[in-house]
Amino acid sequence: MAEQGQPRLTAVVAMGRNGVIGQDGQLPWRLSTDLKRYRSLTMGKPMIMGRKTIESIGRALDRRDTIVLTHRPEIAIAGVFLAHSPQEALRLAGERAAERGVDEIIIAGGGEIYAEFLDRLDRLAITHVDADPAGDARFPAIDWDGWTVVTSEDVPSGPKDDVASRHVVYERR
Ligand SMILES: NC(=O)c1ccc[n+]([C@@H]2O[C@H](COP(=O)([O-])OP(=O)(O)OC[C@H]3O[C@@H](n4cnc5c(N)ncnc54)[C@H](OP(=O)(O)O)[C@@H]3O)[C@@H](O)[C@H]2O)c1
Repeated sequence: MAEQGQPRLTAVVAMGRNGVIGQDGQLPWRLSTDLKRYRSLTMGKPMIMGRKTIESIGRALDRRDTIVLTHRPEIAIAGVFLAHSPQEALRLAGERAAERGVDEIIIAGGGEIYAEFLDRLDRLAITHVDADPAGDARFPAIDWDGWTVVTSEDVPSGPKDDVASRHVVYERR
């Protein structure tokens, strides 16, 4: 968990009922409503993500510092910071947060990155997607007893959404 005075660490994720978050390097659903929520939750904040996730997005996101975890010396996407360990990613993200005057760092996936940061997370902003898609990337197993619901909102399926979902924010107990 974040030490006092340190930015809090929030995982932002959309997951199926079965814990699936991705398939073949892509999201396994089309949820336009959720992409808007993602944008508003992450805007202006440093984001830490895995190399496979940034490659699936294909570009650095606007007005957000993207810190990419990779063992590679470089990657083909411009405008991101590279980190070669979770500690380095947190140090870089902390510097960017201080520079921008924000008190939150976003852990943006995918599955490997959520698993590596799970024990340090303060907050989860989860879109529970009303589906059980096939997938090859999952959110890690989590002890839900360690988390308390802060807000919960049912989201009906909009015109550009495949299915309904539920937005839930959890904080560590
Ligand atoms: N539903 C959602 O909310 C959501 C969010 C994000 C992503 N996704 C999905 O998740 C899938 C990708 O997840 P994933 O688990 O396959 O990959 P990932 O977590 O995005 O990236 C894994 C890569 O991160 C790097 N990495 C991991 N730990 C590292 C460490 N300790 N030090 C240095 N580098 C490290 C490695 O890159 P190198 O191989 O370059 O060394 C590794 O191959 C995609 O399908 C994506 O669409 C879904």
